[in-house]
Formats: sequence, C-alpha cells, structure tokens
Amino acid sequence: MENKKYYITTPIYYPSANFHIGHCYTTVIADSINRYKKKEGYDTFFLTGSDEHGLKIQKKANDAGVTPKEYVDEIIENAKDLWKSLNVEYDRFIRTTDSDHVETVQKIFKKLYDQGDIYKGEYTGLYCTPCESFWTETQLVDGKCPDCGRDVTEVSEEAYFFKLSKYQDRLVEYIETHPEFIQPVSRKNEMLNNFIKPGLEDLCVSRTSFTWGIPVTFDEKHIVYVWIDALSNYISALGYLSQDDSKFKKYWPADLHIVGKEIVRFHTIIWPIMLMALDLPLPHQVFGHGWLIINGGKISKSLGNYRDPREYIEKYGVDAIRYYLLREVPFGSDGQFSEELLISRYNADLANTVGNLVNRTLSMLTKYFDGVINKSEVETEFDKDLINIVTTTKENVRSYMDSLQIPEALDSIFEIFRRSNKYIDETMPWVLAKEENKDKLKTVLYNLLESIRIGAILLSPYLPETSNEILRQINTKETSYEKLDQFGLLETGIHINDFKPIFMRIEVKNESK
Ligand code: MSP
Repeated sequence: MENKKYYITTPIYYPSANFHIGHCYTTVIADSINRYKKKEGYDTFFLTGSDEHGLKIQKKANDAGVTPKEYVDEIIENAKDLWKSLNVEYDRFIRTTDSDHVETVQKIFKKLYDQGDIYKGEYTGLYCTPCESFWTETQLVDGKCPDCGRDVTEVSEEAYFFKLSKYQDRLVEYIETHPEFIQPVSRKNEMLNNFIKPGLEDLCVSRTSFTWGIPVTFDEKHIVYVWIDALSNYISALGYLSQDDSKFKKYWPADLHIVGKEIVRFHTIIWPIMLMALDLPLPHQVFGHGWLIINGGKISKSLGNYRDPREYIEKYGVDAIRYYLLREVPFGSDGQFSEELLISRYNADLANTVGNLVNRTLSMLTKYFDGVINKSEVETEFDKDLINIVTTTKENVRSYMDSLQIPEALDSIFEIFRRSNKYIDETMPWVLAKEENKDKLKTVLYNLLESIRIGAILLSPYLPETSNEILRQINTKETSYEKLDQFGLLETGIHINDFKPIFMRIEVKNESK
C-alpha cells in the first residue's frame, strides 16, 4: 500500500527584521506544495521556523541593550506575521530556543560523543579579539578582520570535532545510488565533485568564544556549533529522542527539504552524515532552489532595493505575490524580481485571463438567465475539445508537481482559463442570445462555469484566496479535489452570488510621456 504521509520543510531562518521577498519565495513554494499534497490525500506535516543562536545575534542584542532572547522574541513575531499575511499554513514554527529542541540537540550531541563520532581536539584559527570571531585565511581582507579591519592572531582552543571523514565513502555511495536525493541534478554533481570527493575534513562542532548557543551538557563551557543545532530542528520538531516521539515515527524521513542553493552543502553533507551516525533514514530529497535577485543583484537594505513584502501584498493582494513567486521563476534557477514584472504577470494572467473570464461569464449568466445555472442536452461543436482539456488537467498537474515543476503546473491550470476564453470567442454567446437559441446558450454558459469551477479548485493550493472567492461567486458546494477529472458535476438550479472582478487591471502610467 502506498505510504500517504508527506513531510516538507523550509530552512529555519535567521531572525532578521528585514525579511524580504526572497525569503518569501521558499516559504510560499513549500506552502503550496504542502497544500497540494493535502488535496492529493496525503497526511502532511509542514515545518518552518527560526535559527536563533550564534555570535551575530549575541552581538546585535548587545548593541540593542537587550538579552539575545528578548532580541529574537520581537523579530519572531514579525516573521509569523509575515507568513500569516502570505497565507502560509505551517504545522509547526520551531524556534531553536524552544526547550524541546534544546534538549534534543543536547541528547544528539551526547549520543554522538558516547559512540565516538564526536571527539575532543584542538581548533586552530585566526582570531579577532574585539569581534570574538574566528576567520579563515581566505575570509581576511588585506590580512585583517573582514568585520572591523583590525589585526587577527593565530589562536588554538579546545573544541569538539565530528568525524565527517569516517562517513565519506558511505555518503558518496548513497548519493550515487539515490539520484533523487539531491536535486536539481547540477547541484548533485557540484556537491560530489567539488566538496565530497576531494575529501571531507572532520568538522569543528563546538565553540567556547561566545555563549549564545546550546550548552554541551557534559562540558558546559562549550556550546554546540550553530549548524548542528539548526539542522537537528528537522527531527527535534517531531519529538525525536523525546517522551512523545509519535510524530517522528509517523513522519520521518522527510520527503522534501527545500533550501536555497547556498545551503545545499550543509544539507547534503553534514545533515546526512549526522543521520547516518544516528542510524536514521535519510530524507527522500533535498531540493536546492535559486535566488530571487533585483536588477541582477542581491536583495539587501544596504543596496537600497529592500522593501517589506507586506507593502507589495497591500498594494497588489496576497495572491498576486504568491502567483509571481510560484509562476515566474523556473524552480531551481535564479530569477528576477521587479514591480514591473509583477505587474505584467498580474495583468496578463490574473486580470486578463482568469479575472476577465470569470467576470464575463457571470455577467452573461446574469444577463441571459437571471444568474441561475442550468444545463441543456444541446451540444456545440467546440465542447469536446474544451472538456478534454479541462478533465485532463488534474493529471498534468500531478505529473508536473511530482517533479516539482511548479510554474509548469500552474501554467497547465491556466490553460483551462485560456481555452475557456477561446470557447467564448468560438461560441459567441451574444449571437446565440440574439438568435434566441436558449438551449445552446445554456450549454455554453454551463460548460464555461464548470470549467471555471474545476480550474478554481485546481488553483486552491497555490492561490487559496482567489480559489475560494471564485467558488463563492459561483455558489457551488461541489468543491472536492478528487473528482476533477469528471465534467458536469456543477449543480443546476442554483443562483450565483454577488460578484465583482477578482483582479482589476493595473494601469501603469508611462513616465516618459
Ligand atoms: N539559518 C539558515 C538555515 C538553516 S536550515 C537548517 C539560513 N537562514 S537564512 O535566513 O539566511 O536563509 C533562509 C533561506 O532563505 C535560505 O534557503 C536562503 O537561500 C533563502 N533566501 C535568502 N535570500 C533569498 C533570495 N534572495 N532568494 C531566494 N531565497 C533566498 O540560511
């Protein structure tokens, strides 16, 4: 029997007051995949959260004159508010300061130490005393600390190390025999050839130079390296090594870790080796996506291109933003973000294609049949093609979603709306009305409404608000996802609800005129 559970995660984010549209990218995609899997009948668990330890946070809190915990608490509220305004529905928001997470990380560290995979050694590095930071040779700028520009000195300190090298061969073998583990395939090759095969060194997994982290229980002046702490969230969130590990038993291994391309390395080297050492199964897939960039560059406050994503949501609506993030960029590649591109996508697809179709159809139904949906036996020569496209879309969406081709999945749903607009041009309902060809007119409007209903339900994982509003306007109770390969389930005799255009075209003033 097929295992119908699905566990999906985003990275846990560094608490930052400046969450930008790039951060929204991962989370909206994960939310849509999760909603889609739910519609497909899976018992899903969607995890997101925040990665709150580390020297940077400790310093920022010091500068702000508050404790690190106070500092992060405020930002976390901001993050949760952002996810809410994007209609992101997660099952747990884990914070690495949550006590259950802290306990699990301590147990993991101890277990790995007891079995000899973590050992005590000496770490030697270049240290900047005022910044309390270690740097590597290549990170230095003109031989000085990249943060403050002062001299660094070579310092050795006692530290714990994790035996990555011991697991290198097993990891290579696993990656080579599980082609789906690292996706897209270009990232798999990069990991194998550039990082793993040249040789893995044991990893320094404890720090003594600052205190904002999870203490090592058996040697309290050490805190756990932030990536060991952070990666453990994917299992601590499910109760691994805790009293109630029922969720862990049910959902682990993860089906999909979605991560940005720069952190694929941590998720496909350190993380699988941690799991091997813990004797746990590995996640089914780590998918490394590209970055959203603005004018070819990174998004940041210091570059002056930062805007709070909520500004866009207020201006254009949540689904306009979700649509852009899901539709514009091939999943896996880098992609541009700009307001002009957002507006042109919005106008072409949301306003002109789906918005216009729904509004025209409901207006005609009101005009010709007082807003009551009805059927007749009479057919038109264009029905078959329309019905064929509409009823095969669910299967097309499934095959695109199975390979995480999200823009393609959305585009196939929009094919329903494009085909329906063409059907209006072909059947010319206004001519049928003039000819008093009522039976044919009934068929045409019924087929349009049924196509819209099916399209709207298919849209629900991606644009939940739009989907609900279309179904509300049609006033249908027939909203099951399962039966979308059947045409003709829309009820007859019902009166549509009040309606207005769901997306108004955005007129852009041409500044040069
Ligand atoms: N805390 C670590 C993750 C630990 S997971 C065990 C981290 N946090 S982060 O806040 O810096 O980044 C979180 C995610 O946001 C990463 O996957 C990163 O790639 C993604 N993005 C940050 N800027 C982005 C864009 N401009 N575009 C797309 N994704 C972006 O890394």
